[in-house]
Amino acid sequence: MSKLMIVAVVSALVGVFLGERLVALRRMTLASREVVPNHLPNCHHIKGLEYGSEDITVLPHGVAIISTGLKYPGMMSFSDAPGKMYTIDLYDQRMKPVELRIGRGFNLDSFNPHGISIYIDEKDHSVYVFVVNHPHGKSQVEIFRFVEEENSIVHLKTVQHELLHSVNDIVAVGTESFYATNDHYFANDFLKHLEPLFGQPWCNVVFYSPEEVKVVASGFYSANGINSSPDRRHIYVADVYDHKIVSLAVQENKELTPVKSVAVGSLCDNIEVDRNTGDLWLGCHPNGWKVAFYNPEDPPGCEVIQIQNIHLEKPAVNHVYTDNGSVIQGCSVASVYRNKLLIGTVFQKAVSCDLK
Ligand SMILES: *[C@@H]1O[C@H](CO)[C@@H](O)[C@H](O)[C@H]1NC(C)=O
Repeated sequence: MSKLMIVAVVSALVGVFLGERLVALRRMTLASREVVPNHLPNCHHIKGLEYGSEDITVLPHGVAIISTGLKYPGMMSFSDAPGKMYTIDLYDQRMKPVELRIGRGFNLDSFNPHGISIYIDEKDHSVYVFVVNHPHGKSQVEIFRFVEEENSIVHLKTVQHELLHSVNDIVAVGTESFYATNDHYFANDFLKHLEPLFGQPWCNVVFYSPEEVKVVASGFYSANGINSSPDRRHIYVADVYDHKIVSLAVQENKELTPVKSVAVGSLCDNIEVDRNTGDLWLGCHPNGWKVAFYNPEDPPGCEVIQIQNIHLEKPAVNHVYTDNGSVIQGCSVASVYRNKLLIGTVFQKAVSCDLK
């Protein structure tokens, strides 16, 4: 064979390999899916949240805690300013976000908050706020104590560990312990970008406590949102590229055993759990390709999915709200309190609606 022939054959093979990978990637990200809007009553934008509201979680007495301003590799961001945290009193009709003051001694300039979780100490009712933080692209977890009278949080501790290399979201299970998802397998930024091309279930969930840190579940294409059932006996993980929510049983030694998975047909991001009903509420990307390659003329849409009775043989998967990007783009979380639904996004606005 001439050298030219060899080059031609090798490039054809590489082309086929990459071509197949791209087809797989397009399937994983639901590249060309279009959505038909299905709205709810009384939806309006929450004024003051313009740079994303990646995660939203609501305290039992109706105070929502929100992380904003995320900068994440490969994702759009409309602001150069550091990330911030806000609260909203859901009993106040004005739905006004108030910035959470962060006590002295914490580096605000590099604050880049992502997934959040709250933990309420049963003994003294102290509220702890756990926040995934990516200062300068790093991956760590910050633990704060919430001082409600002052609308502030006091920094207690930064957790870093080699197993916590690409943390996306966390669920706190003690005052210093949590489960965390890694959304990538590689820690290196260049390899992270190539990783979706391999399309392999290499991601995991890590348990962290001051005494012990270990991988407790693996086999996820990209482990994103994580939360627990109200009785804390199950952990739910959103495998965003596999379009599934996985339910895992918590063992005595903190390891997680997969029980079942529920297909959702969308790229679901964060998981919120209604503490009264146990229903799962998911903020999902109907079209991940449009989130990754942002074009304001052809914006990503938004899908809110509710899973009822996840432990029964046939859980109900309800599409509660859908938008084609004209109202809200790239939604990452859906949080309910009484009949209110708050929808947050990776880099755009937030919306509040009434449930029917
Ligand atoms: C979204 O749907 C609305 C209402 O059906 C339509 O007017 C609008 O052009 C659509 N926008 C996009 C970006 O597809």
